[in-house]
Amino acid sequence: MMDQAEKLRQVIDNLKLKQAANRVLTPVAPVKRSARVITVTSGKGGVGKTNITINLAIALSEQKQRVIILDADFGLANIDVLFGIIPQYTLLDVIKNKKNILEILTNGPRNTKFISGGSGVEDLIKLDQQQISRFIENMAMLDKLADIIIIDTGAGLSENVMSFIVAADEVLLVTTPEPTSITDAYALIKMVSNRDKEKKISVIVNKSESNAEANDVLNKLVLVAGKFLGISLEPAGYILHDESVVKAVKQQQPFSIMYPKSQAAKNIREISEKFMPRGSSSEMNQNSGIRGFLSRLVSFMKA
Ligand SMILES: Nc1ncnc2c1ncn2[C@@H]1O[C@H](COP(=O)(O)OP(=O)(O)OP(=O)(O)O)[C@@H](O)[C@H]1O
Ligand SMILES: [Mg+2]
Repeated sequence: MMDQAEKLRQVIDNLKLKQAANRVLTPVAPVKRSARVITVTSGKGGVGKTNITINLAIALSEQKQRVIILDADFGLANIDVLFGIIPQYTLLDVIKNKKNILEILTNGPRNTKFISGGSGVEDLIKLDQQQISRFIENMAMLDKLADIIIIDTGAGLSENVMSFIVAADEVLLVTTPEPTSITDAYALIKMVSNRDKEKKISVIVNKSESNAEANDVLNKLVLVAGKFLGISLEPAGYILHDESVVKAVKQQQPFSIMYPKSQAAKNIREISEKFMPRGSSSEMNQNSGIRGFLSRLVSFMKA
């Protein structure tokens, strides 16, 4: 007679065998994931977009995310200056079909990678349909190389930047507590809400004097955007005004690397938690990832 314990063991052993067999017979097909595209923007300039892009990328990379930064602030190359790294090639070389995407990826600190936009996303509009398709197919490689693509743009009330915003999966809007910065942020949210009320917009308050002040700004923005524009904003946190940021910028180093114990570095690490993937990411299709993003971007720019 088998005792209870022995029966149980047998049942469990059988189960394990079955599971093992299942694993052998029906290998789970690896689901292709595409990268999340996050556009960082602001209404007013000089509020901290580039610093946030870089240090958020580093914080996410430290949490094992594969992050690629795209510097789309054409004209004023921002990312290179703050990384203190001069990339050899830019997106323009891909647009002109002189280089492939792997050749224009530059290594940044902490395993991050970045792409310099070079002078002229405008050139995209000049391409014919076949050239655009080739460009997008080439760029689609990024979906395999990155979990998250963070795009740093110029201040956001121009048509070009608006295209980047509306095309993105997610928008990260930066403001300071200054009234001018808040009203410009609101104007930008309004422009987005006219095109897409469902757009996921997260907000960061930068250079604030206190937690209370930052939370006050966040709460007010969330409230008015909901009430008057019918758009629901996601408060993503704040970064206090911190001289470490100014010092790091002068040394062309990311503040979170140069001053990892600073208040700003703590704040950006907190913010990064909000951008870690939750649940399963979307499966790859024609509309997802950098491929979907670029298709939308080009169609908005051509419209
Ligand atoms: N948390 C902070 N504390 C103190 N100073 C800050 C902070 N964040 C940014 N700064 C200052 O603001 C300046 C502008 O920051 P940054 O270049 O990141 O802004 P930006 O929004 O990218 O500007 P632009 O619109 O010109 O691209 C920095 O050089 C730095 O001196
Ligand atoms: Mg910038």
